[in-house]
Amino acid sequence: MDKVQAKKRVEKLKAEINHHRYFYHVLDSPKIDDAAFDSLKNELEKLEREFPDLVTPDSPTQRVGGKALDKFAKVRHSAPMMSLFDAFTREDMEEWEGRMNKILFNEGDTSTCHLQGGFFCELKLDGLAAALRYEKGVFRLGATRGDGETGEDVTQNLRTIEAIPLKLRRPEAGELKKAGLSGVQIKAVRDAVENGTLEVRGEAIMAKKVFAGLNEELKKAGKPPFANPRNAAAGSIRQLDPRLAAARRLDFYVYAVITDLGLSGHDQELAIARLLGFKVLKQNRLCRDLNQAIAFHDEMEKHRDRLAFECDGVVVKVNDLSLWPILGTVGKGPRYMMAHKFAALTAATKIKDVSWQVGRTGILTPTAALEPVRLGGVSVSHATLHNYDEIGRLGLKIGDTVVIERAGDVIPKVTAVMAKLRDGSEKNIRVPEKCPMCAGKVVKVPGEVAHRCANPDCYAVNLRRLFHWASRGALDIEGLGPKIIEALVKAGLVNDPADFYGLKEGDLKPLERFAEKSAANLIKAINEKKEAELPRLIYGLGIRHVGEEMANELAKRISHELKDELPQITNLINLFDRLSVEELERTEDIGPVVAKSIYDWFHDKKNSRLLDKLEQNGVRITQHATRNTQQKLKGKTFVLTGVLEGLTREEAKAKIRELGGDISSSVSKNTDYVVAGADPGSKLEKAKKLGIKIIDENEFLKITNYE
Ligand code: IVH
Repeated sequence: MDKVQAKKRVEKLKAEINHHRYFYHVLDSPKIDDAAFDSLKNELEKLEREFPDLVTPDSPTQRVGGKALDKFAKVRHSAPMMSLFDAFTREDMEEWEGRMNKILFNEGDTSTCHLQGGFFCELKLDGLAAALRYEKGVFRLGATRGDGETGEDVTQNLRTIEAIPLKLRRPEAGELKKAGLSGVQIKAVRDAVENGTLEVRGEAIMAKKVFAGLNEELKKAGKPPFANPRNAAAGSIRQLDPRLAAARRLDFYVYAVITDLGLSGHDQELAIARLLGFKVLKQNRLCRDLNQAIAFHDEMEKHRDRLAFECDGVVVKVNDLSLWPILGTVGKGPRYMMAHKFAALTAATKIKDVSWQVGRTGILTPTAALEPVRLGGVSVSHATLHNYDEIGRLGLKIGDTVVIERAGDVIPKVTAVMAKLRDGSEKNIRVPEKCPMCAGKVVKVPGEVAHRCANPDCYAVNLRRLFHWASRGALDIEGLGPKIIEALVKAGLVNDPADFYGLKEGDLKPLERFAEKSAANLIKAINEKKEAELPRLIYGLGIRHVGEEMANELAKRISHELKDELPQITNLINLFDRLSVEELERTEDIGPVVAKSIYDWFHDKKNSRLLDKLEQNGVRITQHATRNTQQKLKGKTFVLTGVLEGLTREEAKAKIRELGGDISSSVSKNTDYVVAGADPGSKLEKAKKLGIKIIDENEFLKITNYE
C-alpha cells in the first residue's frame, strides 16, 4: 500500500471507529461486536506504525500517547467553574423557587406562578469536574476545576477515557432539526464544531464495580485502597503518568455546554452534547414544575443503590436559558440551579451491644446493635463488624459513639470510633467462650481471623428455633418465612427471636429479597404480633416436650397462679423462679418429664436473657380468652381434618381453646369430635371406625358460638 492509499484507508478507519465508539459508549447499543471493533483498531495501529506521519492527535490510537509529566500546567478557565447550592428538603426547594419568582415576577406567591420552561433534573454524579475544550472539533484541552478560576491541564489523562470523544461527531441536519433547533441554531452548532471552539463540562467518575475491582487489586498489591469512587476518580485523573490513568477505566458524563450556541433550553444543550458524541445521563428528565422535580428526586433516591455509579442528589436547573442571566449568580454559585441532596449515607450513633452470629460453616460473626439512627433516609439499628480483628482495628468498645456508613446494597458498617466521646462506662468486647446459639465450644481457626463454633449442627438448630417462633401455631408472623429468616440470620440481623422486634425498615432494605414495600410490610407484621397470647408465646419458646396443647395447659396454669394480674414477661420469670418441678407437675397433662423440661428451660440463664430481651424489645402478653369466658368445651377433645371455608384452622383452634376445649392432631378413642372440612384425610375414616362424632363446619360453628 502506498502512502496515498494508506492515508485514505486511515481516514476511513478513523471515521468508522469513531462511529462505532458513538454507538457503543453514547447510545449504549453497539452495532458490531468487540472483536470486530478491536480488529479495526489493530489495522489502524499497523498503518500508523508503517506511516508515522499519518498519526493525528484525534486518532483513536492516541488515547495513551504522552509521557509522564513532572507536574500539571495551569489553565485559566474560559468562565469560572462554580459550585452549587445545596437543598435538603422540599421546603428548601420551595424557598428557592420563591426567591427566583420574586426576581422574575416581583412577587412572592409561588403557588400561582411557575417558571414557564420547567426544570431540567439531572443526577448529581460524585466524581471530579472537568472542562473539555475542542478546537475545530478536535479535543485540545481538558482541565480540572482547581480553585474555580484556574485549574490543571489533565488533557493527557482525560484522553484515556473512552467516553470522551477525541473528535466531535458531526450531526446531520435532520438530527439537529429533530432536537428542535432552528436554522440559525443549526448553523451556530456547525460553526462551533467545524471552525470554532466548543467547551463542555462534566464529571469524570468511576463506576461502583470498577471501584470495587480496583480496591481489590490495590489490597492484593499491599497498597492502600481508595476511600470511595470519587477519590479513586480524582486520584486517577491527577496521576502524572497517563498509562496509570488509562488503567483505571473511568467514565465521563457531560452536564453543561459552555459555548453559547444560541439555544433556548438547557435540555437542548444536552441533546446537542449527545449528538456531538458525549455521554449524557439517560436518567435526566425535563420536569414541568417543582413538584415533578421533587418527585424525580424522591424516585432517584429510592433507587440510588441500583445505579451503576455513586450519586448524592439531583441537580435541578431552570430549563429556560434566557432566564439564566436574569437570575445571575450569588456568591459561590448560580441562582438558577440547586443541588437537591439525598439523605446522607453516614451517621453517628452509639453501640448498644455486640452479638455473635453463627454462619452455615460455624464461623462467628460479630454484629453491632445500634441506637436506631436515620441513614440514607431510613432508620437502621444494626451494623456489621466482620470479625474480631476488625473490632481490634477499630478499637471498638460497647457504649462507643461510632460513625456508620452504608454503601450500596449492604448492611451498614462501622467505619470509625469517636474515642474522645468516651465517659469510662464503655465495655471491652470479647469473643464468647461458648457459642451463643448452642453453648458449644468456640475455637479459633489457626491461621485465620475467624472464630468457629465446634458444633456442626449449631446453625441449623438456631434456624429451626427461629422458624418455630414465627410459625403459624406460635407467634404467627405473616411474611416471616424460612427463606427470609435465613437471610436475616446470614446478614447478622437476627440471632434470637427477640431480635425480630428490634428490626428497622432500613435494616431490611439492603437484603436482596426486600423491595421497599415488603420491608415496611414485614416490620408492620412483626410489630402487630408484639402483643402475643400467652399460649402462643410459650409454644414459640420451643421448650422440649411443650407442643401447642401443652403450651395451652401451661398458660392456663400460669394464669391461675398469677390470679388476676395480667401475666407479663417479668411476672413469668418470677413465677418460674418459685415453682418447683413437683409443683409444675400439678398442672393438667403435665407429667414429670415435661415438668422437668419446663423447669430446666426457665432456669437456664440464656433463656432468662431471652425473656428479658423480649420484654425490652416491646413484646407484651395479651389477655387470652381462656379466662373469664364460658368453659363450655372443657374436657372435650377435637381433631380437625380437611379444609374449612369460613375460618382458618388457626381460628378454629383458637375458638376451641377459648372455650376450654383441647385439640389433638390424631384421632383416638379419647377424641370427642372430629371436625371435617372439604377433602378430609384418613382421620375421617379412623373416626368412622371408632364411632366418634363427626361434625361439619356449620355444626362446629353452632357449638362454638357462645350465646
Ligand atoms: S452543574 C455551578 N450538573 O457538582 C456548577 N454539576 O457542587 C455547575 N456535578 O463541581 C455544575 N453532577 O462537578 C452540574 N448534573 C450536574 C452535576 C454537577 C455533578 C458536580 C460538579 C460541580 C459540583 C457542584
